Amino acid sequence: MRIVVGITGGVAAYKTVSLVRLLTEAGHDVKVIPTQNALRFVGAATLEAISHNTVDPDLYTDVADVKHVELGQTADLVIVAPATASFLARTAAGLADDLLSNVILATQAPVLIAPAMHTEMWNNPATRRNVATLIADGYALLEPGVGRLTGSDTGKGRLPEPEIIAEAALKLLALDLVGKHIIVTAGGTREPIDPVRFIGNASSGKQGLAIAKAAQRRGARVTLIAANLADANVGQAIHVSTAAEMASAMDEALQHADALIMAAAVSDFRVSEPSDRKIKKHEGENGLELRLIRNDDLLANAALKATSASPRTLFVGFAAETISDSEELERSAREKLTRKHCDLVVANDVSGGKVFGSDQNSVLIVGRGLETQKVSGNKTVIADAILDALLPRFPDLQQSSN
Ligand code: CTP
Repeated sequence: MRIVVGITGGVAAYKTVSLVRLLTEAGHDVKVIPTQNALRFVGAATLEAISHNTVDPDLYTDVADVKHVELGQTADLVIVAPATASFLARTAAGLADDLLSNVILATQAPVLIAPAMHTEMWNNPATRRNVATLIADGYALLEPGVGRLTGSDTGKGRLPEPEIIAEAALKLLALDLVGKHIIVTAGGTREPIDPVRFIGNASSGKQGLAIAKAAQRRGARVTLIAANLADANVGQAIHVSTAAEMASAMDEALQHADALIMAAAVSDFRVSEPSDRKIKKHEGENGLELRLIRNDDLLANAALKATSASPRTLFVGFAAETISDSEELERSAREKLTRKHCDLVVANDVSGGKVFGSDQNSVLIVGRGLETQKVSGNKTVIADAILDALLPRFPDLQQSSN
């Protein structure tokens, strides 16, 4: 495997030497690209000796070889550790002003970014924004560890140990879903009141998108049914708005699917008779009454329909609850698992709006015969944990994983 290891200018750069050693000892061809500032912390000679490859961070040497494109194109995996706040900002903005940033823009390979900085810098709103952008752009981000930082302070911001970085990075290369067709629904449905108003919900679609991207990265063919999402650039995207539109898109896609992951927030009700022209203010002088009728439960219907099919499609439901007690949350998730004929249910507590639109999530994954798993982290971490829990349930993979 050809792995590019980028190093940016942080004290934790010394740990990256061990990371490079781990990767070379595992038989990988490692090309190290330090930034100029990284070379203030570790020497090029050390990196050359440990990686058994030349180290030249200059964008303007060997120009005839178009080095940045060649390195980006031939990499199977890119790791950046440590990644400074400045690197996160430049990458989020798409800047390409040195060899490492050019390689990152040129590569099609998965990129794992392992940030390290002081807690205040990690929590800074600008850094939060940049992290959110990077996750949305499909970069894998390893959460910094909590502990002793460079000065006498402690907190979140430590570079994880080299073994953890190597394991997370190599996991990005897993192609364990090749041959599987996975449908992911994401976003929130909208039920029209009139041509300009609707009943909607606070779902941002980020968790569903993260699942679709992770499934695609792991080799699955992905159909994304996107409810009211502008940015749905994953797999084959089908855009829908209402629950009824989502139902018919699902019907079609489910004919050839191995799994449905129902991350969308589907409205339980719709307006019985939406107006076909804008309702004027004066029409509601004494208030306005809307009659709502129940929408079908799309997940339960689809899962019920598939019970006798062979091989059976797998179904993953979500349960966004306002329940802070984790035992009660688990009970409610298990109830949904049975009621909706699902294989897995992913439950989280959305009290106080702490999940919607955020890049962090904390969920319980429940399933029949599965010990409940609690997973916290960014939405890509949650996405991979859901796919990991689903994997052994595919009929053709059951034997090998048992
Ligand atoms: N769901 C669905 N169709 C609906 C409502 C929900 O397919 N009309 C799906 C959601 O996409 C989610 C799961 O069912 O995967 C659970 O949604 P949730 O709103 O938590 O469940 P409800 O059945 O609405 O239960 P309750 O209102 O009792 O919490």
